[in-house]
Amino acid sequence: METKIFKREQLDEAVSLLREGGLVAFPTETVYGLGALATRDDSVKKVYAAKGRPSDNPLIVTVADEAMMRPYAKEVPERAEKLIKHFWPGPLTILLLAKEGALPESVTGGLPTVAFRCPDDQLTHDLIAKLGYPIVGPSANTSTKPSPTTAQHVYHDLKGKIAGIVDGGETEVGLESTIVDLSVNPAVVLRPGKITPEEISQVLGEEVLINRGQVSDKDVPKAPGMKYRHYAPSAQVYVVDQAETFDKLDLDASCGVMATSDLLENLPVPEENKFNLGKNLTEADHNLFAGLRYFDDRPEIKSIYVEGFDQGEESLAYMNRLNKAAGGHHV
Ligand code: TXA
Ligand code: MG
Repeated sequence: METKIFKREQLDEAVSLLREGGLVAFPTETVYGLGALATRDDSVKKVYAAKGRPSDNPLIVTVADEAMMRPYAKEVPERAEKLIKHFWPGPLTILLLAKEGALPESVTGGLPTVAFRCPDDQLTHDLIAKLGYPIVGPSANTSTKPSPTTAQHVYHDLKGKIAGIVDGGETEVGLESTIVDLSVNPAVVLRPGKITPEEISQVLGEEVLINRGQVSDKDVPKAPGMKYRHYAPSAQVYVVDQAETFDKLDLDASCGVMATSDLLENLPVPEENKFNLGKNLTEADHNLFAGLRYFDDRPEIKSIYVEGFDQGEESLAYMNRLNKAAGGHHV
């Protein structure tokens, strides 16, 4: 299958492909998603196949606005209304009880809940609005690889397996959306993202819990994605918790380093083995996945040392992705 790249002028072509049951990747403010008509079981199943994703890991339902979400939710509690009003469109995914039978079981993996997301991206808003139906939207990477932050990353992983990619340039945030479970009380943040638990708590005017639990393969976890290997490049990743540690590392030509500009500057490592995460945490969020992918294309790199951040809730999302990529290895 030829994988076409679409610009804004060709949006109608992308809409037609989705309407016919095809797979089209789309930009969001977080990472690129892999779209398919959420109302069609056969289309949804193609998403699992293209990504190589286990079928018990449910998919986010991506909508153009709140009205498009309503027919698929059993109810929209006041707490959800508050969050939607405040954060949508934006990088917050909301878990609600599903309306029975409204979506194919392949979307929810048989769970009683559905994850809804309304991305802050004009191209994708227009794509879904023209289609008139929600699309599923897992990250558009091969399962276990870092999420894609450019159309080129998507092409690298999924060329020949999907019908098209809507190219909206580099994504802004760089890490996936915050997921908050509103089917329980108090609400629980299942996956940290740019929107922090504190911000959610302030808007709700109530306590919000954070799920930090490690989940084993035997469990049925609340966010099924948590139990799977993630963001893992071929080389071994190490989290470097203290900046001083970089000076003590025995770095050779098989080592890659990902750090902020100031730190990187003075390290005795060949330039091509350095990946600049930027000036601060926000830029590091934006660049993390691109950096992991950069070294994945360099088979001679066996270890990657990545700067850790300790900035409270602000660094939860970054450290969550980095810890997964490192499989818990710290130096
Ligand atoms: O920023 C994002 O959320 C991106 C962009 C493309 O929108 N999407 C994304 O999707 O990260 P994905 O599939 O890579 O991650 C969604 C996570 C998975 O870990 C999945 O297990 C969880 O959400 N999830 C989906 N539906 C769920 C449900 N009903 N209950 C619990 N967890 C759910
Ligand atoms: Mg993903």
